[in-house]
Amino acid sequence: MSDYLPIGGSKPRGIFERRRLLATVVLGACALLSVILLAGHTVNSPNNKDSICSECAGFKALRPAFNKSLNHILYNQDYKMSVIEKLAGAVKIPTEIFDFTPSPSDDPEAWVHFQELHEYLETQFPYVYEKAQVEKIDGFGLLFTWQGSKPDLKPLLLMAHQDVVPVEPNTVDMWTHPPFSGFYNSSEDLIYGRGTADIKQLVVSHLEAVERLMLDGFKPQRTIMISFGCDEEASGSCAAKIAQHIEKRYGANSIYAILDEGGQVGEVDGVYFAEPVTSEKGYLDAEITVFTPGGHSSVPPDHTSIGILGELIVDLEKDPYDILIEENNPALETIKCFIKFGAIKDEEIAKHLSKNNLKKLGTALDNRLALKYLFKTSQALDIVSGGIKANALPESATVLVNNRIGMHSSVNETLGHIMKHVQSKAETYNLGIKVLAGRYSKEETAEVIKPVTESGRFVIRLLDPLEPAPFSPTSGSQVWDIISGTTVSTYKQKLFGGEDAKVYITPALSTGNTDTKSFWNLTRNIYRYSGSLQYKESNEHTVDEKNSGLSLLSGVAFMYQYIPNVDAYATDA
Ligand SMILES: *[C@@H]1O[C@H](CO)[C@@H](O)[C@H](O)[C@H]1NC(C)=O
Ligand SMILES: *[C@@H]1O[C@H](CO)[C@@H](O)[C@H](O)[C@H]1NC(C)=O
Ligand SMILES: *[C@@H]1O[C@H](CO)[C@@H](O)[C@H](O)[C@H]1NC(C)=O
Ligand SMILES: *[C@@H]1O[C@H](CO)[C@@H](O)[C@H](O)[C@H]1NC(C)=O
Repeated sequence: MSDYLPIGGSKPRGIFERRRLLATVVLGACALLSVILLAGHTVNSPNNKDSICSECAGFKALRPAFNKSLNHILYNQDYKMSVIEKLAGAVKIPTEIFDFTPSPSDDPEAWVHFQELHEYLETQFPYVYEKAQVEKIDGFGLLFTWQGSKPDLKPLLLMAHQDVVPVEPNTVDMWTHPPFSGFYNSSEDLIYGRGTADIKQLVVSHLEAVERLMLDGFKPQRTIMISFGCDEEASGSCAAKIAQHIEKRYGANSIYAILDEGGQVGEVDGVYFAEPVTSEKGYLDAEITVFTPGGHSSVPPDHTSIGILGELIVDLEKDPYDILIEENNPALETIKCFIKFGAIKDEEIAKHLSKNNLKKLGTALDNRLALKYLFKTSQALDIVSGGIKANALPESATVLVNNRIGMHSSVNETLGHIMKHVQSKAETYNLGIKVLAGRYSKEETAEVIKPVTESGRFVIRLLDPLEPAPFSPTSGSQVWDIISGTTVSTYKQKLFGGEDAKVYITPALSTGNTDTKSFWNLTRNIYRYSGSLQYKESNEHTVDEKNSGLSLLSGVAFMYQYIPNVDAYATDA
């Protein structure tokens, strides 16, 4: 990750689930927990229910069920430095993952840094390693299980991943501090290095929250699990194995809730917007190859495979997917909240929203790059190759089309869109069409859509297909309410403005995918959310990735409260 829309940022991030325009729904959603909620004031409750109604203002602080070290976590400078040093140490271990990193059984050498990270974590979190069961899944996946006293309760699962995207060697000199230095500049409160933001921060903050709870004598009734995949930035197969392991042990639908990387808490003009990501778009890579006869290039046909592929590429780009604003898309809720409370200032969008004119809203959003792909399938022509010799006709040419599938669509529909254009070219140039699935499957096993001719064939290889994720519950869900109430409580601490701080919670949509894609069978309550304060210039996946110490500590503070809150308040889900 992360590919969702941080407020004030330029990249698309989450958006919301849309609900009816009824202020009563707002109250209903939050009434569930009202017995255990602190009497805090409700901020900016919707005063004009004919205009934009967003539920995002309706949450009150949840009184922490356990808060022994909360002040220590938030205000003790030595403690802060100790957690920053734990993160810095993890960042110094370069757990880079490449698209073609061999599996651990094929080449254990490629994974030495993961082994090093495991040993490092053990030195930094001695209580966790003593009191929790620690399992290594499929070599380098990590699963921690802190057994609760009531085994009937569904376990809570916290997730992150150990791997980081590689540092491009040619960019090393461009970093302010070396990419694997973990350098901390205290006057800026910034930690530099690959993984500080994506996502070793979360590895450290999950373990630190649990370590501190153990140290403080907290004893859970509900089992707490922490899982760290080892190749999220590649295939995510490590986390998939962990998911299978958990399903084997506990069964399907056996987990209370999952919290993974994703949304954070953004701050705009002193107002806090929390964005738990409640769904993710789907995914499909289509690798399209045109095969045509070779020969000497002094007597070429009118169109070589490269020319035919070029025409296909032009056709695809001229035919983008349609936008569709659906009521249940979480991104709609995000936009409502941002517009209503000033995190996005856009009069045209505000006007269409206030009239609930989804058609015009769609047309307007289709002109805004940062927002439109929350409501439609994207296609990006990312890789192309073909030809090897100046005087030889190219016998093949290949393009890879990367698609992020919109919430209203499907893998099948996306393939349909691609096939329409391939079929048209196949007719024009009298070529066959074959479709096959997976990186390594052989062409003999392909499905023949149109028989191969003397002129050649198209071969479409479908890679990593994933349907859009199910929507996780929001309004009316106690799981959602506990996440929200804990967030408000965290950001109403003195450090962030105290009781008067404005804290809004909105569901969001991610245009990218996380390891949670392999965990749908375990629970419908999947929230890609860390509760940490977003540092806006974090430069994930590029030069000068960095994060603030405040972001790190706010994440620990959130999780330190969230675990006991679930233990005390959840009636199960
Ligand atoms: C911890 O809880 C106690 C009892 O509810 C409360 O008086 C105290 O202010 C809380 N401390 C923090 C930091 O929230
Ligand atoms: C720390 O950051 C400050 C402010 O950006 C800068 O002036 C200073 O040079 C930095 N220190 C180091 C050691 O990089
Ligand atoms: C897949 O899409 C095609 C159109 O591209 C449609 O005819 C077919 O019914 C779809 N199949 C499923 C299972 O949805
Ligand atoms: C989820 O469960 C279904 C039905 O048992 C199974 O076919 C599928 O492979 C499971 N998905 C994952 C990701 O394990």
